[in-house]
Amino acid sequence: MTYQVTIQPSGHQFTVKPGETLLAAALNAGFSLPYGCRNGACGACKGKVLAGSVDYGVHQEGALTHEDKLKGLALFCCAKAESDLTIEVKEVGAAKDIPIKTLPCRVERMEKLADACNFCPASTSIFCSRTASDAASRWPTRRRRTA
Ligand code: FES
Repeated sequence: MTYQVTIQPSGHQFTVKPGETLLAAALNAGFSLPYGCRNGACGACKGKVLAGSVDYGVHQEGALTHEDKLKGLALFCCAKAESDLTIEVKEVGAAKDIPIKTLPCRVERMEKLADACNFCPASTSIFCSRTASDAASRWPTRRRRTA
């Protein structure tokens, strides 16, 4: 049996098939809900169930606590509909809707994509992707500046 899900505050609606998570159904219907791990671990997909009931699915306790459930929250990457639902979640409409964050990261590996040319100032950087032959075909008669 399929269930109808209404997203608030947008009023968008989509259908959930048996065994399908709310997130998967929403994404399949073309609605962009926030998510991260899609595995019940990060909490990025957490939203509120305003009406109806869900099976919370398999998730980590840290991502969705008992108190969260009492507040009506669910992880939409794990939750499955047990009735028609109304959920509250902020849809991600465009890149501008994603908040800019500064996050720590670590570069694990860098790989040179091509031999750098000795033609442009950027060639001293790993970010120059021109090859010597590419540069020669673009600027066949390079002149050196003299002081
Ligand atoms: S996307 Fe990470 S818990 Fe749902």
